[in-house]
Amino acid sequence: MASFKTFLVTLVIVSSLASFSNSQLSPNFYGRTCPNLPLIVRNAVRQAVSRELRIGASILRLFFHDCFVNGCDASILLDDTATFTGEQNAFPNRNSARGFDVIDTIKTRVEAACNATVSCADILALAAREGVVFLGGPSWTVPLGRRDGRTASQSDANSQIPSPFSSLATLTSMFGAKGLNARDMTALSGAHTIGQAQCFTFRSRIYNDTNIDLKFATTRKATCPVTGGNSNLAPLDIQTPNRFGNNYYQNLVAKRGLLHSDQELFNNGPQDALVRTYSNNNVAFYNDFAAAMVKMGNISPLTGINGEIRRNCRVIN
Ligand code: HEM
Ligand SMILES: *[C@@H]1O[C@H](CO)[C@@H](O)[C@H](O)[C@H]1NC(C)=O
Ligand SMILES: *[C@@H]1O[C@H](CO)[C@@H](O)[C@H](O)[C@H]1NC(C)=O
Repeated sequence: MASFKTFLVTLVIVSSLASFSNSQLSPNFYGRTCPNLPLIVRNAVRQAVSRELRIGASILRLFFHDCFVNGCDASILLDDTATFTGEQNAFPNRNSARGFDVIDTIKTRVEAACNATVSCADILALAAREGVVFLGGPSWTVPLGRRDGRTASQSDANSQIPSPFSSLATLTSMFGAKGLNARDMTALSGAHTIGQAQCFTFRSRIYNDTNIDLKFATTRKATCPVTGGNSNLAPLDIQTPNRFGNNYYQNLVAKRGLLHSDQELFNNGPQDALVRTYSNNNVAFYNDFAAAMVKMGNISPLTGINGEIRRNCRVIN
């Protein structure tokens, strides 16, 4: 009897450990320690987006670039110093990643409400959602409990964040390396329904690609010359750049994807059918986007005693 009891107790412990490691993050992680967290983030993001509509897009991209480089650990938020090289000056981020000041503002307010409790990585995950929701996109429940990294990697940021010049095969394998399948990738790329891109990221597409609507290419060439104007901006979604929606996929079907990598999703390849579905069915897009955001947010989180709760998102404690 005693041994059967031991067996049962062991079984309960083992199975609860197993379920713990399967779902390390939980939506109610700060339910008792920082109950106002969601509201603080929501209000701050709404203020910031009201001031500048693009900032919702910028924060969403920050989260993507954080998660793709050694997991969602706020590594992208660490500033370079004389003795520390982080990710902000990696090619995909330099003169491009933005929104850091909004995260600082949120962190200051969160520290004032719940000192030394909430990670920068979780703030970024919540802020990304709020930006999407405020711009008309879907909402989702954000699992929480990530901790902040004490390291960052410029070389991993250079090699693991996809480039706008990539082929579909390369994009698929880079997302696959992060545990995201082609469907996740196609849904997440719908983030390009908001925000802006610089001329140098789409110049070769508008001048050299053949799978492009000619009128669209002409429109974009007006502010993106063959030489010069590298940082001139154009909306990723020509229809509604500040409104989240499935227009991005309608653009792809019309060969009006801005980036070469965007149009790769609809170029007589394996993602064509899904792009067509999303272009006709906003609900399908929203459901898949929300699910894929949770999946991306689950990439290698630091939990338990790993990492730290940074006091200032820009520097390790
Ligand atoms: C599929 C691979 C992807 C590639 C190659 C890619 C590439 C790019 C590039 C080149 C820009 C313009 C940056 C600039 O010119 O400064 C951009 C902007 C953006 N990306 Fe992506 N991206 C990808 C996937 C994603 C994903 C998965 C998300 C989020 C879920 C995302 C969110 C954004 C947003 C919101 C912007 C606009 C940012 C702003 O206006 O500040 N991208 N992306
Ligand atoms: C916040 O927490 C830190 C670390 O635990 C502590 O050093 C600091 O005094 C606290 N600040 C306030 C205002 O409570
Ligand atoms: C277009 O392709 C040609 C040949 O590869 C190359 O020399 C040229 O620089 C490209 N032009 C642009 C704007 O990318």
